[in-house]
Amino acid sequence: MNILAIESSCDETSVAVLIDSEVRSNVISSQLFHNKFGGVVPELASRAHIRHISSIMSESLIQAGKTIADIEALAVTSEPGLVGSLIVGSSFAKGLSLRYRLPIVPVNHIEGHLYSGKLENQSLEFPFISLVVSGGHTALFLVFSFNSYKILGLTRDDAAGEAFDKIATLLGLGYPGGPEIERLALSGNKNKYNFPRGMINSENSDFSFSGLKTSVRYFLNNNYKAGIPGELLPDMAASAQAAIVEVLVSKTIAAAKSNAVGDIVISGGVSANLTLRQDMVKAASLHGIKVTAPQMTYCMDNAAMIGYIAEKKLIEGGSESFTDLSFIVNPTALRSKYREK
Ligand code: KG4
Ligand code: ZN
Repeated sequence: MNILAIESSCDETSVAVLIDSEVRSNVISSQLFHNKFGGVVPELASRAHIRHISSIMSESLIQAGKTIADIEALAVTSEPGLVGSLIVGSSFAKGLSLRYRLPIVPVNHIEGHLYSGKLENQSLEFPFISLVVSGGHTALFLVFSFNSYKILGLTRDDAAGEAFDKIATLLGLGYPGGPEIERLALSGNKNKYNFPRGMINSENSDFSFSGLKTSVRYFLNNNYKAGIPGELLPDMAASAQAAIVEVLVSKTIAAAKSNAVGDIVISGGVSANLTLRQDMVKAASLHGIKVTAPQMTYCMDNAAMIGYIAEKKLIEGGSESFTDLSFIVNPTALRSKYREK
């Protein structure tokens, strides 16, 4: 099946073409101009999606060697995300659906991340534990099949990427903060400062990162009110990164062990972090658990992961189940929907 998939839930505009689960193109345009504001400005994000979505679709079709006439179904992220950004992608997809009489599969963005491990590695078998860790989400799932999974835990406050970004801001670093902290941490001592590992010993799989951010803020206020000297930044970055990574690794391994599952998938922007990848692999190998960390283009927000899961839904439900254009976007679908499964 030839699928054209659209992702626009935050600040990446992406269009992919997949043919029988194989990614033929996956064009991603990141809105880097948000960096100067220290975070994503929702209204500017939706306007930029409007400006670029059409040309990104054309580029994606060209790269795949296809035209819109070859496309048999559409997929679009409908939840969760920034409401304006979601509306741009889904309205664009609905327009295409009407014009070219194509079925359209609304996809949950987090489901896209969940199955990106299968997209990367088709031999990965169910069940597996999936850690979705980005600027907006930190969640652990137990995934049984393409249409069955259970949420094991969520962050109760900040997402891990949000913690990286907020700590970077406190340290006077740029946005996004994760890559900045990772870069500085390379030459730092992670044992220099002992920051809290939120909920690391709790019985459940929930996370909490706001205490870490507050602890960094108090430390700076109490010791370096006028600004932290540059030479201390690497140790601060390494210590803060260690606090986040340790919690993510410990909770993910505990979830795999308690559910007797032999595979872990990590995805989302924070999974670009090399220390997280390496520490997860090291800890997992001690328990005979394998780790799949998709290549960066499938870890960040991308349309290929949306098209991949849409095809599974089309195969299961048939194209005729996806002719309803009345679906609406939902900015907060993660909490309301997944707890019930
Ligand atoms: O998945 P993503 O591109 O967008 C969403 O939030 O949906 O994730 C962005 C987040 C940001 O918080 C950024 O600081 C974090 O991922 N990030 C990293 C790294 N690269 C990106 N965090 C830690 N280490 C990195 N290398
Ligand atoms: Zn995402």
